[in-house]
Amino acid sequence: MGNIRIIGTGRCLGEKVVSNDDIATIVDTSDQWITSRTGIKERRISISKNTSDLATDAAIKAIKTAEIDVLDLDLIIVATTTPESFTPSTACLVQAKLGAENAVAFDISAACSGFIYSINCARKFLDGIRFKKALVVGAEVLSRIVDWKDRSTCVLFGDGAGAAILEYSEEAGGVIDVYIGSNGSKGKCLNTGRFNIENPFVKSDDVGNHKLSMAGKEVFKFAVNIIPYSVSKVLEENSISLDEIKYIVPHQANYRIVESASKRLKVPMDRFYINLNKYGNTSAASIPIALDEMNEKGMINKGDKIILVGFGGGLTWGAILLQW
Ligand code: UT7
Repeated sequence: MGNIRIIGTGRCLGEKVVSNDDIATIVDTSDQWITSRTGIKERRISISKNTSDLATDAAIKAIKTAEIDVLDLDLIIVATTTPESFTPSTACLVQAKLGAENAVAFDISAACSGFIYSINCARKFLDGIRFKKALVVGAEVLSRIVDWKDRSTCVLFGDGAGAAILEYSEEAGGVIDVYIGSNGSKGKCLNTGRFNIENPFVKSDDVGNHKLSMAGKEVFKFAVNIIPYSVSKVLEENSISLDEIKYIVPHQANYRIVESASKRLKVPMDRFYINLNKYGNTSAASIPIALDEMNEKGMINKGDKIILVGFGGGLTWGAILLQW
């Protein structure tokens, strides 16, 4: 059996830079509060690009760095919580925009863990026969579902997309293991409301507010436990020690969450990649955006082992042990 290697990465961010001071003109908050509680200094908000546009631009860069032809793609998976339509899926929109006519395309909904879930799904498809190359994208326009009147959430999120090209390969390395989990019974603590049944035969009491709401403290507690747990899980199951891991790439939600993981795992902060100060929380896009920045900066070399770890709505979580 071959390996599943990442051979290219890309990213695209919302074009408008929105600082904490800008947010303070919308809700009762301050740069001091946001910086000290989250580490976020600014975020990128989309003005003209919808979810599939951000995803496509990230994909174009990933295809370029992978040095492949778009027609080589057999599979496109987009992880998103903020698709621009129920159907077509964002992945089908991306397929059309790229002209990737040989690819099977569909979306995955696993909130901030979406990229981890999607990599796991793609690696199950990639058999070296019918499926040789996959495009996996995390893409979000969270500014669409953020409640801009709720200061406890609207300061946190940003828009963007990150992409990776996966290839079935006989060469050593790639995805060593993936661990994922879900707990639907805790779904309420991070949700966007629900659509009630509405048709000519029932009277709907749908108030129509499908904005994001979050029990911040509960999600915080969940996050600080699940990151060390997921990281330890992929290490233990593969008999690999933390010392062998060059970087941990966490979902970019809150600096204090990463700090807590650093203490619990006894891994110094400089081995965690952090860019949430620039982009805020971009949900499914945060890990692939980080990965592309690291790749571009030459921080990861062939043979390096890294761990990607995510958590979020659902609740969902997961970690990927990867050899570059
Ligand atoms: O990818 C999804 C994952 N989501 C997360 O990882 C989020 C996890 N949770 C968190 O990161 C944190 O819980 C938050 C950053 C959301 C909140 O931080 P906190 O330290 O838990 O603050 P808090 O909710 O306990 O609020 C403390 C105070 C409250 O005021 P009182 O009741 O003490 O008077 C809030 O009303 O801070 C107030 N507050 C704000 N003040 C200024 C809440 N939001 C703001 C704000 N600006 N933006």
